[in-house]
Amino acid sequence: MKKIMLVFGTRPEAIKMCPLVNELKSRRNAETVVCVTGQHREMLKQVLDVFGVKPDYDLDIMNQGQTLFDVTEKVMRGMSEVISKVEPDVILVHGDTTTTFAAALAAYYMGVPVGHVEAGLRTYDVHSPYPEEFNRQAVGSIADYNFAPTAVARDNLLREGKKPESIFVTGNTAIDALGTTVVEEFSHPDLDWADGSRLVILTAHRRESWGEPLHSIFRGIRRVVEEFPDVKVLYPIHLNPLVRRAADATLTGMDRIRLTEPMDVMVFHNFLARSYMILTDSGGIQEEAPSLGKPVLVLREVTERPEGVAAGTLKVIGTKEENIYREFKALLTDEKLYDSMSRAKNPYGDGLASKRIADILIYGKTKI
Ligand code: UD1
Ligand code: UDP
Repeated sequence: MKKIMLVFGTRPEAIKMCPLVNELKSRRNAETVVCVTGQHREMLKQVLDVFGVKPDYDLDIMNQGQTLFDVTEKVMRGMSEVISKVEPDVILVHGDTTTTFAAALAAYYMGVPVGHVEAGLRTYDVHSPYPEEFNRQAVGSIADYNFAPTAVARDNLLREGKKPESIFVTGNTAIDALGTTVVEEFSHPDLDWADGSRLVILTAHRRESWGEPLHSIFRGIRRVVEEFPDVKVLYPIHLNPLVRRAADATLTGMDRIRLTEPMDVMVFHNFLARSYMILTDSGGIQEEAPSLGKPVLVLREVTERPEGVAAGTLKVIGTKEENIYREFKALLTDEKLYDSMSRAKNPYGDGLASKRIADILIYGKTKI
């Protein structure tokens, strides 16, 4: 029986790996081991609780204000111990965080095959997003299984010379997760607060935006909210103290902008589903929004998710105050533009990605 170990450590990895954990656990012909690095602590726990996943190993590495060195070093050392103990047949990592990179490198050093879930996303600019573009390219160079969410991602890998037989187009497990979180009946005090207004969801946390770009984003948003009395912005802030300080400095003091703690994924997805539009620099939200039919202004210079742009749901607008002001205002005033960006399309899969990945790992091919 194949022993499959999944390793993840941050909120977005957990949201997209937990559906796969639960799928693999339902298979009698696989042994599933879950190792979390704890790169995130509270934000990881929120997701594990929602999906009912109990890790077998927890490296518990998080420190306030941790550096890339701290995370890389601790994950490498911790993984070498866990891998020696578990002796898995394959290690699955997800996406592009430092946990992803360091865990894959540890597996490679110890001769264990690596499966990369959400493989092949690229901007080809290692400074944007930083350090994620490097992380995913590095994992791509050592992965034995590449689970590409879309044909675009597959084609990136083929162009880079990856063996075609190592690449499988599966859809994105984010869509599997979304299928279990959005419900008809949902109530929340922040939803009552937004009643009768156009609710805009904001998230921003990217490393390359720390400092002036974040302030610039926030100033642009503030100016628009001041002009539109029927707009309310809800911002569940990432726990990173640097991000929180920037938001406290530039976004507080307005009744119609509410800063909250990170929401658990069940609650957050239900807010997305009930929003008017989304402002974000998140990777995962760019995948979720097209299937919910919610226009997204992407607060970044580039995206590795061109499928959502092609579908018409995403628009990449950068971090400059004037651009944020202009594009945000346009979506509030131009009905035609709003309608064209809010048609639900789903370029990221049919919600069966976890089943396909499990089949490939167990039988060598998908049965769907
Ligand atoms: C990490 C990933 C990024 C991903 C993001 C998702 C890296 C280098 N970055 O960035 O790719 O998009 O997660 O959110 O891997 N903190 C807490 N509690 C938590 C989580 C974070 O207090 O549950 C605080 C800590 O002070 C921590 C800081 O946030 O030191 C930064 O966390 P870290 O994982 O290093 O970076 P992120 O910006 O979250
Ligand atoms: N998310 C969440 N609660 C929040 C904000 C976001 O559950 O308060 C979810 C969101 O739906 C998406 C994921 O977290 O699935 C995105 O995580 P994040 O923005 O931290 O990372 P990124 O996607 O940018 O790597």
